[in-house]
Amino acid sequence: MSDSDKYPADSGRRRFVKGVVGGAALAGVGTTGAAAVNSATSSTGSGGGPTQAYAIENTGGPAPRGMPQIPIEIDDEGYIRGVWPEVQTVTQNGVEVELAITEDYQGTGVTYSQDWFQYCGVQTYDGLNPTFESDNYFRSDNGAYDWQSETYSAGDRLNVNDFDEYETWGNGIGQAGLGMPATGTWRSQDTEDTMPIQVLRSTRIEEAAQDNEWLAASTDQGVIAWLNKCTHFCCVPGYKQAASSATFGGEDGVYCQCHQSVYDPFSIVETLFTALPRPSE
Ligand code: FES
Repeated sequence: MSDSDKYPADSGRRRFVKGVVGGAALAGVGTTGAAAVNSATSSTGSGGGPTQAYAIENTGGPAPRGMPQIPIEIDDEGYIRGVWPEVQTVTQNGVEVELAITEDYQGTGVTYSQDWFQYCGVQTYDGLNPTFESDNYFRSDNGAYDWQSETYSAGDRLNVNDFDEYETWGNGIGQAGLGMPATGTWRSQDTEDTMPIQVLRSTRIEEAAQDNEWLAASTDQGVIAWLNKCTHFCCVPGYKQAASSATFGGEDGVYCQCHQSVYDPFSIVETLFTALPRPSE
């Protein structure tokens, strides 16, 4: 865990959180329980607490868990955006605060909330303010892949039609034809806080979504996205970005060069972690 992943020194609060994590684990971690805890553990800010999220699985290295998925939508023109949960006003410790939380995401029973992204300092970012003004489209950064930097300028919106070689794409790292990637940002316009994201369009995701309710609801046309912040010490990993990834079995996965963590973007798992509260304003 990084320093920023640790709770402030508030012994009463920490004790309470630990107790609840144990209890929730025994009870099978119901999302209702997690939501109830949210409203009780936020003496230093909004949200946070035990959180169940969908993530791309961590399969190697020191990272403690997967990176959180961002459910996506594709508009009529093909532009890809990350879904931001509904903004709701909830009462925490007698104070009304706003939280972005959708309790039954597209009828899947999944609670999707901003808590999914509240780690590694991201909880302090402007984009994590529930009411931050954004169209939520993914925008290209400088482009980690040749095809991407040839297609987009930084700031251009990612469009599914530009991923048309997704069935065959390769760049010499690992196996070709697994999926076509791009890197970008989300909810990061007009702020210095940049939320890095990675998008991947793959036939594997298309196929998996056919008999998986969550993937059917959170991906589209084979496109999946996640917040690209390593859960170890918060570096920005990459899918097929480092030739050295092969040494650590990460050539067909998402590899973090900092300490060799590997994630599998084709294995979406539920993960439980303690989200950090958004600081009080
Ligand atoms: S493996 Fe350490 S920051 Fe990613």
